Amino acid sequence: MSNVYPSPHPLVAHKLTRLRDKNTQPKKFRELVREIAALLAYEATADLKTVPRQVETPLAVTRGAELKEKIGLVPILRAGLGMVEGIWELMPSAEVWHIGLYRDEQTLKPVEYYNKLPIEPTVSVCLILDPMLATGGSAVATVNVMKRWGVTRIKFVAVIAAPEGIAAMQKAHPDVPIHLAAIDERLNEIGYILPGLGDAGDRQFGTG
Ligand code: PRP
Ligand code: URA
Repeated sequence: MSNVYPSPHPLVAHKLTRLRDKNTQPKKFRELVREIAALLAYEATADLKTVPRQVETPLAVTRGAELKEKIGLVPILRAGLGMVEGIWELMPSAEVWHIGLYRDEQTLKPVEYYNKLPIEPTVSVCLILDPMLATGGSAVATVNVMKRWGVTRIKFVAVIAAPEGIAAMQKAHPDVPIHLAAIDERLNEIGYILPGLGDAGDRQFGTG
């Protein structure tokens, strides 16, 4: 699979195992989502562009660097919300733009319900955040929104993906790299990822 990057990091594997555990309660679940998101974002941003910047230490002037690109974090409501904080701590000047989508339970198609993007794009690179890439409908729809907005560099950061969701993204948006903690086996008959972790929104917010 090209442009798909499952994390090789042992910390990610360790935290993902605790996240999958059905006995993990919402408080711990949210903590793990936040930490895994930060680790994945670290990997996903390894190619961000920088510009040179001089800095004066207490002893000397030296050459340094600062981020060149304006970054947008784009959580897909609601489960993507839990991925924002950990990443935002790493890049506090990022803008956060929410996209509201839910999956119709019968058709599994995404239904958009929230989008307050201004007309002109305000970021040049964006990280779309959603823990679960299942059929890929929500991911493809969100990338469509971001491309229509005019963002040229888009990365998708998820915790778990099904092969079906990766295939849908690669067909619709082969230019968008996908950063993940794990690729699972398949979807079940109602569109849930197996073995997965269940419903990521419900487990974070204590609903369902
Ligand atoms: C979940 C998940 C993704 C979507 C993935 O959201 O957070 O957004 O399903 O499925 P897909 O790849 O088949 O589109 P859900 O619709 O359950 O909404 P929620 O986050 O509000 O619970
Ligand atoms: N959304 C979830 O929260 N979990 C899945 O397994 C699939 C979609």
